Amino acid sequence: MIQVRDLAFADLPQILGIERDSFPSPWSAGMFILEMNRAGSVCLAAEGSGSLVGYVVCSKLDEDWHLMNIAVQPQPSGRRVGVGEQLMVELLSTVGPDARITLEVRPSNSAAITLYEKFGFLAAGRRTRYYADSGEDALIMWRTPATLRGSLDDVPNAQEQNR
Ligand SMILES: CC(C)(COP(=O)(O)OP(=O)(O)OC[C@H]1O[C@@H](n2cnc3c(N)ncnc32)[C@H](O)[C@@H]1OP(=O)(O)O)[C@@H](O)C(=O)NCCC(=O)NCCS
Repeated sequence: MIQVRDLAFADLPQILGIERDSFPSPWSAGMFILEMNRAGSVCLAAEGSGSLVGYVVCSKLDEDWHLMNIAVQPQPSGRRVGVGEQLMVELLSTVGPDARITLEVRPSNSAAITLYEKFGFLAAGRRTRYYADSGEDALIMWRTPATLRGSLDDVPNAQEQNR
């Protein structure tokens, strides 16, 4: 049974463990503290049996929301059991169904891309050599009222992407 609640500073040790297991260039504690302190940011924790199993960090910059980080622990309860989806559902209910949300993702990260597509995100651009650790481009994705209809009409500088 997973419960979603606000992320707390006391979660940082567990967050950093999941972060290290999830990313080649994990965020530092300082990066989480910055986003958790940002006015209006939405930082949610998924908790199961008293321990943290995942989190999502989303911040509003100007008019649009930026999904900055989402991760689910690989072990022991593991991924692909619905935790990421539960975090996305709670995030969308917090920011509102019509919120405009953007994010960057590695084109090789098909698990995350499939999750985002399931929630109405569409690929709308690229940032060349965005990831310093691998030199990989970033795919820019958006979820807007238009992307929910399958169009990029209201996405700034949109360019359809072949994956
Ligand atoms: C991306 C991530 C958060 C997904 O979390 P999760 O709890 O495993 O996802 P869920 O079990 O809720 O899956 C929800 C949907 O996402 C998609 N998905 C998740 N993992 C997938 C995979 N390995 N392959 C294909 N689709 C996948 C599916 O559509 C899935 O729905 P389904 O199981 O009904 O088919 C997780 O893989 C993760 O932590 N990855 C490492 C960190 C990361 O890359 N974060 C994204 C940075 S941009």
